Amino acid sequence: MAQAEAKTKEFNLDDYDVVEHEYDVVVVGAGGAGLRATLGSAQAGLRTACITKVFPTRSHTVAAQGGVAASLGNMSPDNWKWHMYDTVKGSDWLGDQDAIEYLCRNAPKAVYELEHFGVPFSRTEEGKIYQRPFGGMMQNFGEGPEAQRTCAAADRTGHAMLHTLYGQSLRYDAEFFIEYFAIDLIMENGECKGVVCINLDDGKIHIFRSHIAIMATGGYGRTFFSCTSAHTCTGDGNAMVMRAGFGLQDPEFIQFHPTGIYGAGTLITEGSRGEGGILLNSEGERFMERYAPSAKDLASRDVVSRAMTIEIREGRGVGPDKDHIYLHLDHLDPELLAERLPGISESAKIFAGVDVNEEPIPVLPTVHYNMGGIPTNYHGEVIDPTEDDPNAIVKGLMAIGEAACVSVHGANRLGSNSLIDLVVFGRAAGMRAGETLELNTPHAPLKEDGHLFGIKRLHEARFKTGSKTTAEMRLKMQKIMQSNCAVFRDGPVLEEGVKLISEAWNASDDIAVTDKSLVWNSDLIECLEYHNLIIQAVASMVAAENRKESRGGHAREDFSERNDAEWMKHTLTKIDFDKMKVDISYRPVHDFTMTDEIDYIKPKKRVY
Ligand code: FUM
Repeated sequence: MAQAEAKTKEFNLDDYDVVEHEYDVVVVGAGGAGLRATLGSAQAGLRTACITKVFPTRSHTVAAQGGVAASLGNMSPDNWKWHMYDTVKGSDWLGDQDAIEYLCRNAPKAVYELEHFGVPFSRTEEGKIYQRPFGGMMQNFGEGPEAQRTCAAADRTGHAMLHTLYGQSLRYDAEFFIEYFAIDLIMENGECKGVVCINLDDGKIHIFRSHIAIMATGGYGRTFFSCTSAHTCTGDGNAMVMRAGFGLQDPEFIQFHPTGIYGAGTLITEGSRGEGGILLNSEGERFMERYAPSAKDLASRDVVSRAMTIEIREGRGVGPDKDHIYLHLDHLDPELLAERLPGISESAKIFAGVDVNEEPIPVLPTVHYNMGGIPTNYHGEVIDPTEDDPNAIVKGLMAIGEAACVSVHGANRLGSNSLIDLVVFGRAAGMRAGETLELNTPHAPLKEDGHLFGIKRLHEARFKTGSKTTAEMRLKMQKIMQSNCAVFRDGPVLEEGVKLISEAWNASDDIAVTDKSLVWNSDLIECLEYHNLIIQAVASMVAAENRKESRGGHAREDFSERNDAEWMKHTLTKIDFDKMKVDISYRPVHDFTMTDEIDYIKPKKRVY
C-alpha cells in the first residue's frame, strides 16, 4: 500500500507501510561496539543486520581522540593486571571485577586484532604501536611510574577504528540498514523478539525479527546542555530497554571530561596532557600539583574536573568572567603537536580561535560519558535481577559499549578504557551469539502484538498537538541537568533537580509535532529522541539524589566521603510509566574475579 497520509489522530495500521525481516542477530548502532559485534556475528555464520540512524562512519566513536587502552608494554613495562588494578581504582570500587578482568586480559588481543584489520596506529621508531600516558594509568599496581598504555592513531583513534571496522564488516554478509531509526523492542513474554524501526528515507516501518537483538546505541550525553557528545547521543537503546520494563544501572555516574573547549564543549583529548600539556589557573599556577601530587594533570578525570571547578569557584578561573581554566600546549615542540595532536590543534583554532603553538586553550569540565547503562554480564547479555537469581538474563537481548553497564567503569571511567570496552565487549557479544544460537533456527510467528507498541508510539508522537516545540522542551531538560546534576552535587540542589526534571517529564505530552510526514521528518524523530532522553534524565537525577555518598563521578558536598559499608552497590532504576515515577533498587557489586589468576582487589582510599 502506498504510504497513506493518516488524516486523523486515531491509530490505523493501514496508514503505515510495514516491511518484515528475519535475522538471527539484529545489532542497533554502528559505532565501534556495534560494528565489532556485527562483524563477529556475521563471521559466526549468523544472518546479521546492523541498523543505524546515521551512516556508520558518522557514529560518535568517530569523535574519540586519544586512544585505546591495552597493556602492550611497547613504551613502558606493563601488565594486564596493572591495567586491571588501575581500572578498579578508577571505578572507585564500583566496577565488577570479573568484568574488569575480562576487559584488561583481552585488551591486547583486541588491539592486535585491530592492527591486523588495518587500523593505522601511530608508530614508535621500531615500528611498534605508539602508546601514550593517560590519566590514572600506572605501573606496579598503582605505585608508579606512569604506564604508557594508550594505543593511539595520532589524536584520531576513534576515527581510524570506526573506518577500519566498517570496512571489515563489509567483507562479510552482514546487511546494513542505514538511516533507520529504532523505535522500540518487540517483546513477548519477557523475551526480546526483535526491533521496530522507521526508514527515515521513505517513512516505511520495518519489523526486524531476531533471536538476539544487541543494543549498541551509545550514551545519552545530550540530556545536558554542554557535552562533548554528538547530537545523536540520545541513548535510544537505553530508553527502549526501559520502556520494555527493564532497568538502567548506575545512571547517576556521569563523567565530566576536564577539557571541553570553553563555550563550545568540543573535546580536547586527555592525550594532550599525556603529551605534556598542563592546566594553569589565573595565577599561572599548575594547581593539579596540590590536588594530585603524584599524577598531577594526569590524575583521574573526576579528580581533575573537581579540582578545576574548585579553582574557578575560589576565584582563580581565567578569562573576563574567571569562569574557565587554561590548557597550555604552547611549551611543547611544534613538531610533536603537528604529529601527535593535529586534530585538537585544528579544533582549538576553529572553536576557540587559538593557535596552540602560541596560546593556551580555554577549557572547562564538560559532560562526556555515561558510566551507567543497561546492566549486562561480560558476555553482553542483559541482566534483569530477580530475588531468586541476581544474574537472571533477559532472553534475546544484549547490550554493549556505552549503552551497557557491564560494569567495567563503575563510578568513573579512565580515559581510553572506552574504546577498548567497545571492541572487547563487541567481540564478546558476537562470540556469545555464535555460541548460543543454532544456525538457521526459524522464527516462530509472533504471538502477541509486541510490534504494535512501537508503531503506536510513533503514531502518538506524530499527532502531538501540544503548545511547545521539542527544542524548547529539550533545552529546558538540558538546563536542569546542567545546573542540578553537575560536577559537585548537594542535597537541596538535587532535591530541586528531582522536582524540576519530574515536572519537565510530566509536561512531555505538551509537545507539538507540526510536520505529520513520515519521510525525513526531523521534527518527529527529535520528538522521539526527546522522549528517550527525558526518562534517562529523570532516572539519573533520582538516582543521584538517592545515593548519599561520594564516589567517582558522583561528588556530594553533603556526603563528601565514599561509604563502602552502605553504598558499595549498583543502582537499578526502573520507570513506572503508569505512576510516572522511578523505582530504585540496588544490586551487589561483584566482589570476585573471573579466574584465580588474580585476587579480588580490596577497596582502599583513592589518591593520585
Ligand atoms: O580524551 C580523550 O581522548 C577521550 C578519550 C576517552 O574518553 O576515552
